[in-house]
Amino acid sequence: MKIEFIDNILTPEDFVRLRVTTGFADIPVPHARKALQNGLLNVSAVKDGKLIGMGRLVGDGAMYWYLQEIIVLPEYQGLGIGTMIVNHLVDYAVKNSSTGKITTIGGVSARGKEGFYEKLGFEVIPNGIQWRIKRKL
Ligand SMILES: CC(C)(COP(=O)(O)OP(=O)(O)OC[C@H]1O[C@@H](n2cnc3c(N)ncnc32)[C@H](O)[C@@H]1OP(=O)(O)O)[C@@H](O)C(=O)NCCC(=O)NCCS
Repeated sequence: MKIEFIDNILTPEDFVRLRVTTGFADIPVPHARKALQNGLLNVSAVKDGKLIGMGRLVGDGAMYWYLQEIIVLPEYQGLGIGTMIVNHLVDYAVKNSSTGKITTIGGVSARGKEGFYEKLGFEVIPNGIQWRIKRKL
């Protein structure tokens, strides 16, 4: 299956649609637009011209990088696409890590998705309210 990973083409409308399709809260389009504009990177997973997944990286672009909205449409889950999205974002963080020393890549896992991040080498840090994941480079 040939899938392209394309940076910063995600529209706010598609962002909202993918969120809602996979159980995230609906948000107003202007809010989504601002979030995309202020993020460091967003990546779209595209198969035969169809958007099938996405991921975002937010943070300060130097020390802290956070994964957000790693989403694969239900019919394409379990095929390794989520892994490729995360790796794409992590590669960007590594390449753009200005210090070249230790950088932290983290995120907040949705409940029940911790295993996905653990398989990618992230450590799950339960704090009782939400599950934080963190990987040192
Ligand atoms: C979580 C999500 C992004 C995973 O994407 P995916 O393309 O299905 O994941 P992959 O196929 O790359 O899976 C990689 C590995 O993680 C495992 N995995 C995936 N989801 C998992 C889960 N919820 N719990 C435990 N392991 C999981 C897979 O079994 C696979 O293991 P394997 O390599 O041994 O076969 C996808 O299920 C999704 O979009 N879910 C809805 C949105 C969501 O909750 N996103 C997370 C936000 S924090």
